[in-house]
Amino acid sequence: MIGMNMLPRFVVPGAIFVLTVAFGFWLSRLGRPYNGLLFNVHKLIALAAVVFTSVQFVGILKSADPSAFSIALLALAVLCVVGLFVSGARMSADRLNYTLLRTIHRVALVVLVIALPATVFRLGGGP
Ligand code: HEM
Repeated sequence: MIGMNMLPRFVVPGAIFVLTVAFGFWLSRLGRPYNGLLFNVHKLIALAAVVFTSVQFVGILKSADPSAFSIALLALAVLCVVGLFVSGARMSADRLNYTLLRTIHRVALVVLVIALPATVFRLGGGP
């Protein structure tokens, strides 16, 4: 359970996450109004990434004794995911706040990409 043994758990969720980001850039590149198929593929694989990642976290947390800092990092990651879903859903509908929502979508992604692996390493005591 310790250290680098954590990494194989995240190969599948990580691959789905990379796909989500790739579809996000593709969707963004084609611009608005969004391509309906790409929008839904992006949204659904994002959901799949969250589900697969959560399953792994539940498994790790069962046998870990997380510090307050690890819990704070995890909470930050959860907040980012919520931010991604809310901003993503609003972006297609809200003309007025489009720029703000897109900024939230980008910032939440960057913070998530830092906070989530950091949580994994803290919980695993590695790398
Ligand atoms: C783990 C969750 C998600 C990740 C990592 C993610 C990532 C990304 C990335 C990297 C982009 C391209 C950003 C850019 O060019 O500025 C993007 C764009 C977009 N995403 Fe997501 N996304 C997620 C969830 C969602 C969800 C759930 C929705 C919709 C309900 C959504 C809707 C959109 C839209 C509409 C765009 C196009 C933005 C634009 O107009 O440039 N995203 N996403």
